[in-house]
Amino acid sequence: MLEGKTVVIGVCGGIAAYKVVEVVSRLKKLYADVNVIMTENAAKFVTPLTFRSISHNPVITDMFDEPVKWEIQHISLATKADIIVVAPATANIIGKVANGIADDMLSTTIMATKAPVVFVPAMNTNMYENPIVQENIKKLTELGYIFLEPETGLMACGTAGAGRLPEPSVIVERVEELVCGKRDLKDLKVLITAGPTQEPIDPVRYITNRSSGKMGYAIAAQASKRGAQVKLISGPVNIKTPVGVENVAVKTADEMFNEVMKSYEAFDILIMVAAVADYRCAQIAEKKIKKKGENLNIELIKNPDIAKELGKVKGNRILIGFSAETNDLVNNACEKLAAKNMDLIIANDVTQEGAGFGTDTNIIKIIKRNGDIIDLPIMSKAEAGNKILDEALLIINKNTVDNN
Ligand code: PMT
Repeated sequence: MLEGKTVVIGVCGGIAAYKVVEVVSRLKKLYADVNVIMTENAAKFVTPLTFRSISHNPVITDMFDEPVKWEIQHISLATKADIIVVAPATANIIGKVANGIADDMLSTTIMATKAPVVFVPAMNTNMYENPIVQENIKKLTELGYIFLEPETGLMACGTAGAGRLPEPSVIVERVEELVCGKRDLKDLKVLITAGPTQEPIDPVRYITNRSSGKMGYAIAAQASKRGAQVKLISGPVNIKTPVGVENVAVKTADEMFNEVMKSYEAFDILIMVAAVADYRCAQIAEKKIKKKGENLNIELIKNPDIAKELGKVKGNRILIGFSAETNDLVNNACEKLAAKNMDLIIANDVTQEGAGFGTDTNIIKIIKRNGDIIDLPIMSKAEAGNKILDEALLIINKNTVDNN
């Protein structure tokens, strides 16, 4: 996802310019703010109106256009950009930048930016293989500019060879990697439970706990950023669903159990972060319970243990649980890991400041099946989430090697 990121697309004059319309469209679907700069020649292949309609932003073609807002446009975009992608990158723009020429909106913006600049060359094979072009590419690569290799195939000019623009999906995937970091979970599906459950007593009261959902939602956000397909099954919380994550809202442990059991088969990693009520009321009063005697006894009966049931049927899936403890942290967590057939358990001592319920940070121990413990210092729940995902990935990679 590219929410909150500004991608500047520099379109040059080549027949592949039409393919860049799809690049812009895909970036928009990832929530990027896309700003298109076109060279004069690019506007002969595709109209600025096309890019304006797809990007929902003004398209800049001329250095001396009236700016939409009073800012020096090439400086403003150069500063705002998280990345600049030049596609199709012609021999002309590569040559200009390699030789320090800044004579139009695109070349001046490239010259004025500190953001990464990615060139996606697309041109006739002979032009691409020309030693001058290759020398310019080498020079720019050494200076830190990034080049995507053109694809080989039949060219618009009728010849065959290297010089075709890579598929839009390839360009967008590279942009996401460069802007957001690693996408090492892109082939994996992650199911996460989060938040508390609410067990009704009567129409106005319920039993719950202090879980805010922050830990589970942080893991979901990180897994999604790293490319995983993520589904959250969440008790009642007050947090926005992370971009790109599917969220199913539940209230009771029973509802959470049913949703998890319906879904788990399609997932590779199952992370049980929810603070699930162990008991529920044997009878839910139909009407509000009135104040009568000195005592009120409510009979509680056991809820299903979601993690334990998953442990019985998980197969090769990676099952990760959490253990919220107030005493004897490691022993209690290890007992749960064994009883529920988990691959990892994340132990947090919820009496420690900065750990457990409601905080933005956590202090966790990652306990493995063989008893090894990774003891981590206080860190944001997002960082802790990444450490847990790293460990899950290590197990998956090891299992893959062992099975081959
Ligand atoms: O939501 P936050 O405010 O960010 O707080 C995070 C947290 C403290 C809730 C989280 O870090 C945490 O520790 N979650 C697990 C809390 C818990 O209920 O632990 P437990 O020891 O009771 O349960 C052990 C494991 O079994 C957990 O993975 C739990 O999800 C699972 N379980 C428990 C009972 C049950 N009926 N079904 C379950 O699946």
